[in-house]
Amino acid sequence: MLDKLEALYKQFQEDVIKLHKVADVLNLKASLLGKKGALSEILKSLKDATAEQRKTIGVKSNQYKKEIEDLVQNQIKKIEIEEINSKLEKNKIDISLTDSVLEKGLQAAGLHPVSTIQREIEDIFLSMGFDVLDGPHIEDDYHNFEALNIPSDHPARDMQDTFWFKDKKHLLRTHTSTIQVRGMQGRKPPFQFVGPGKVFRNERTDATHEMCFHQLEGMMVGENITVSHLIYFMKTLLKEIFKKDFEIRLRPGFFPFVEPGFELDIRWKKPGKGESKHSGWLELLPCGMVHPNVLKAGGVDTDKYNGFAFGLGLDRLVMVKYGIDDLRHFHSGDLRFISQFKSY
Ligand code: DAH
Repeated sequence: MLDKLEALYKQFQEDVIKLHKVADVLNLKASLLGKKGALSEILKSLKDATAEQRKTIGVKSNQYKKEIEDLVQNQIKKIEIEEINSKLEKNKIDISLTDSVLEKGLQAAGLHPVSTIQREIEDIFLSMGFDVLDGPHIEDDYHNFEALNIPSDHPARDMQDTFWFKDKKHLLRTHTSTIQVRGMQGRKPPFQFVGPGKVFRNERTDATHEMCFHQLEGMMVGENITVSHLIYFMKTLLKEIFKKDFEIRLRPGFFPFVEPGFELDIRWKKPGKGESKHSGWLELLPCGMVHPNVLKAGGVDTDKYNGFAFGLGLDRLVMVKYGIDDLRHFHSGDLRFISQFKSY
């Protein structure tokens, strides 16, 4: 019986390494170790053997069983690696440079028009004595709403559909006005700064809405700041960006963090011929005189100081400047769009 066992094992050893399918390996294993398998049959027949025989054959067969299991696992691993390699071979991607790339030379990347305009505006404000500040994308309720005079029960929260984190305490900032709060803390008036960056809203995407867009916040705090200061800085900004003077108008606008709040419009004619729906007054710049509650949250003495603030939509500005009609181009990654704005 021992010889028979050994012969079975030897045969298995030879056969298993010739197999290239997992199912075949498992079938071969079953033909030995399965209920009706050859090795199981031998073990069943042990009941007629002597105690001595039972012991030696029992020990041996357990040893073979374990070795068979190991051989099966090894072979399956081998087959899986073979399969992966053959898939890789079939789906090979040619990463060598194509002739056309070699002929044209490598195309250097350029800045996105939103980054370009952001840098331009930063330079304009730096030249006027403003600091440029940054702020986190992940904010808390306090910096995004509460400190900006938007308490939790305030209907103005509905104006900004928000991505909340599961803890219900953190969110993706809906506006760069958060930078006002952070900027005021640790500064003593007079001070002035701008804060550009990405903002996020739970918006359905269309030609003028994206869930991620860019704003540039501005704030100036000092003694006797007036709406005239605000108008002066906004006019200077527009003149520097568009390289021409604009007729502007202020309309009342509601934002809880400013009082009074305004919408600053410019008299605009869309690039190209003829009038279009984009010609006429164009709403461009929400702004206002900073609400005392906001100044207080920033630790500013409101008996002595006041200020103005504004929030410029950078994507919109780029659209206006270049006559772009669909915001979705900005994140499309389409080189035909992006390569029209090459600048470094
Ligand atoms: N944070 C406002 C928004 O995203 C924009 C804004 C309005 C900013 C008025 C300001 C401001 O600083 O004074 O809708």
